[in-house]
Amino acid sequence: MSKSRRNKPIYMATVVPGLENIAFQEICTKFPTAGTVDSQKGKVFFHYENSYKDLFALKCVDNIYFYIGSFGIGPHKVDLLQVESKIKSLNVINRILQIEKDIKGKRIIVSASRSGKHTYSRFDIADTFLDALLGYHFFVRGTVEQHDLAFRVDVDKDKAFLHLKLTPPTFRFRGKDREFLTGALRPSVAHSMVLISEPESTDVFLDPFCGSGTIPYERSFYDAFAILASDISAERLEVARKNLPEYIGINRWDACNTEMIDNSVTKIVSNLPWGKQIQVDDINRLYVNFLKEAKRILAPGGRMVLLTDEENALFTAAEINGFSISKVCTISLHGLHPSIFMLEK
Ligand SMILES: C[S@@+](CC[C@H](N)C(=O)[O-])C[C@H]1O[C@@H](n2cnc3c(N)ncnc32)[C@H](O)[C@@H]1O
Repeated sequence: MSKSRRNKPIYMATVVPGLENIAFQEICTKFPTAGTVDSQKGKVFFHYENSYKDLFALKCVDNIYFYIGSFGIGPHKVDLLQVESKIKSLNVINRILQIEKDIKGKRIIVSASRSGKHTYSRFDIADTFLDALLGYHFFVRGTVEQHDLAFRVDVDKDKAFLHLKLTPPTFRFRGKDREFLTGALRPSVAHSMVLISEPESTDVFLDPFCGSGTIPYERSFYDAFAILASDISAERLEVARKNLPEYIGINRWDACNTEMIDNSVTKIVSNLPWGKQIQVDDINRLYVNFLKEAKRILAPGGRMVLLTDEENALFTAAEINGFSISKVCTISLHGLHPSIFMLEK
C-alpha cells in the first residue's frame, strides 16, 4: 500500500453475503475518489477521504464502520491478557480523532463476533476489549440503550479486527416509518437488484409481486418515466400504499394477468414467491405463467431482475418462454441461499 493510501481512513461496510461486488460498484460510482481495499464474506473495506457522513448515501450496504486496526490473537483465554497492550499499539485514540473531533467523556459499548477455534466466547472478547478501552480515560461505560460510541470486534481465527460503528440503528431500514411484512426483502438487497437492472430515466418499471413495496421504494431513489407496483393481495397492497410515495402506481393484479399493454415495460425487478414464507399452490405453474405475461408486457430489449431460491422452476419457465437467463449472484438470507437472476427478452 502506498504511503498516501496508508494515511487515508479506511471504512468497512457490512453487506448481505454475495452482494460484495455490487456494494463495491456502488461505492466506486457514488464516490469516485474512494479506493477499494479488500473484501471478505459479508464485508467490504474501502478508503474515503472526506466526511464519513457522505457514506450514508450508500444503499446496498447494511452498516458502515470506521476500521481502527487489527492484530494477531491466540486461541486460548490466557491470550486475551495481551489485548490491552495490543490495543495501545493500535493508537486507538488518534485513529478515532481522524474522524471524530470530540471524544471526551463518551459512553462506549463493545460487541464481538468470533469464528474459528478458541477457548473463549464472543462475550469474553467483548468484555476484554471493553475493559481495555475503558483504560483510556476519555471513555466511560455505556449501555445498549444509552451510548455514544459502539465498537465492534471481529475475531477471525488468529486475527482481531477493531471497528467503530458509524451508522445509526435505523440506517438499514431507511428510517423508522416503514412497515415490513413477512417475506419482505432487506432494503439493501432490494437496492442491489434495482442497481443490477441499470435504472434509466426513461424506464417504465414494474414490481408485479411488490408485497409491502420494498423494491419500488428503492427504485424511487432514481428517475423513471413511471414506477408501478402490483400484488395479488389486498392486505399487502394496503401496506405498500402506506410505504410508497404517491406518484408510484399501485394496482391489485395477478402477476400472470396484468393490465399492462403489450411491450410497455422496460424493467421488471421482483422478489418472487419462493413457496416458503408465502404459500403458493404450484410454484412451477406460477413461474411459467408469470414469465409468459412478462414476455407479453416487456418492451424489446427489456430486462428482468428476479430473486428466488427455486432455481430449477425459474430456468424451466425461462426456457419455455424463450428468455435468455443468467445467474448474477447467490446471497445468504435468513439461512437460505437464493440467487439473483437476470432475464432478457
Ligand atoms: C416474496 S413476497 C414479496 C415481498 C416484497 N418484495 C416485499 O419486500 O415486501 C411475494 C409476494 O407475491 C405475492 N403474490 C403471490 N402470488 C401472486 C400472484 N399470482 N400475483 C401477484 N402477486 C402474488 C404475495 O402476495 C407476496 O406479497
